[in-house]
Amino acid sequence: MPYKHFGNHADVWKHIALCDVLGRESPSVYIETNSASTTYRLNNSPEQTFGIYHFIGKASRVPRLHNTPYFAIEHAALKNNQYIGSPGLAMLLLKGTTVRFVFFDIEKAPLDDIRDFAKSHQLETKTETHHEDSLNGLADILPGTPHNTFIHIDPYFIDKPGPDGHDYMDLFVNASQQGKICFLWYGFHTLSEKKRINGFIRDKLTKGSIGHYLGVELILEMIRPNTIICNPGILGSGLLTCNLSDASNSAIIDYSDLLIELYKGSAFEGFCGDMYREFL
Ligand SMILES: C[S@@+](CC[C@H](N)C(=O)[O-])C[C@H]1O[C@@H](n2cnc3c(N)ncnc32)[C@H](O)[C@@H]1O
Repeated sequence: MPYKHFGNHADVWKHIALCDVLGRESPSVYIETNSASTTYRLNNSPEQTFGIYHFIGKASRVPRLHNTPYFAIEHAALKNNQYIGSPGLAMLLLKGTTVRFVFFDIEKAPLDDIRDFAKSHQLETKTETHHEDSLNGLADILPGTPHNTFIHIDPYFIDKPGPDGHDYMDLFVNASQQGKICFLWYGFHTLSEKKRINGFIRDKLTKGSIGHYLGVELILEMIRPNTIICNPGILGSGLLTCNLSDASNSAIIDYSDLLIELYKGSAFEGFCGDMYREFL
């Protein structure tokens, strides 16, 4: 299924943090497990209005958000009614330093789009696309990559096992144990779903002896224990990282503060759009 939620508020949170830490970490290899496309056509959907349009409209008055590479890229894209997804952001930001880009997707169309984008930015010799389940494919290439390999893990479900019984949290733990820089996004629609996912993540981290992680969640006030009263794409989402520098982890926390401020007093379809933060 093509990715439809591009440009929503959770993409803003994931992508502003991603862009900042990519600049700080300057990885020699960038791997994305669930890539989707580099570029999307915006259609002014309510999700996008609450997401990228709200961000660009308000952030121009907040220097710490306005002066970010994410703002610069998306502001330029918006003029053409476009939103740049993470493969495009990573290639634009890392094109001068990263020697290898590896993108996985089970759909062919986004990988074609990634190859076109790579070509138009003279990155085709550095860019690999893998048309396969990344739960299988990544395990094969991970051991041959250097320590400062950045792995962006962005599946729909972090707890759904693949054909060999492993899930994306196993991959996160395995890559973290190997010293790779790991950046995982997860989402939830209700507080009971959040509780279940939090328990699942903590259990995997404990069993994998991963103590040095950061988990930061931004949650909409409109989230409910078991029901979805309205849906701006997702009602809460978290960024889980391991082996990032302290400066990168601090930056992620700073962005969560700035976005909470940016959404104060906002609304989505008549419901309060305020957010709060929790640490995992
Ligand atoms: C949420 S979208 C990715 C969004 C993108 N990372 C971004 O931030 O702009 C998820 C993508 O994962 C792909 N996908 C789903 N299951 C997969 C799997 N097992 N292996 C690789 N890709 C998968 C889907 O086809 C979809 O394009």
